[in-house]
Amino acid sequence: MRMLIAFIIGLITAPILVALVGIAGWLPSNSNSEPPKWESSIGMRALDASLERRSDGLPNPITTKDAAAIAAGGKIYSDNCSRCHGTTKGPSAFGSGFYPRVPQFFQEGTDVDPNEAYAAVHDGVRYSGMPAWDKQLTGQQIWQVANFVANIRGPGGKKMDMDAD
Ligand code: HEC
Repeated sequence: MRMLIAFIIGLITAPILVALVGIAGWLPSNSNSEPPKWESSIGMRALDASLERRSDGLPNPITTKDAAAIAAGGKIYSDNCSRCHGTTKGPSAFGSGFYPRVPQFFQEGTDVDPNEAYAAVHDGVRYSGMPAWDKQLTGQQIWQVANFVANIRGPGGKKMDMDAD
């Protein structure tokens, strides 16, 4: 019985300590320090797994052969997304001020399929600067830009490396 009580106290002490340290103002809240590699790696993996779950079974209506839809997605991207996610010409300086950093698709490639991109764009990404677009873009526009983004490859056709910082 005593062992069990000691175990339970041990279990709840750590989160209570973290909460107290936070309330006392000791958890870092600035966004311009470099996110540690372990943190970015765990964060990206968790986001990837969550997007996989959120997007399971979505009916992507666009194929890679639908050049007009992908081109429409490219236009939506330059109007709404490039200021954070960058362009073929270079990464966004604005995007480098976020924590977590905004992925620079043309430099890093993408690791999302069209369904995962749709879920990220339609409903946004919590605790990051990635907004939900469901009130600004129609479902069709979101599919167009999602397919455009999922088909971006970094230099040399590279896909995003989740362990990169
Ligand atoms: C205000 C800045 C901002 C804008 C504008 C923005 N994003 Fe994002 N986006 C982010 C951030 C920050 C993340 C990273 C979230 C993270 O790593 O937790 C992100 C993540 C994503 C992801 C997930 C990437 C991955 O590898 O998991 C996709 C897809 C995406 N954005 C697409 C778009 C599209 C398409 C648009 C335009 C309709 C857009 N974003 C506009 C900030 C932005």
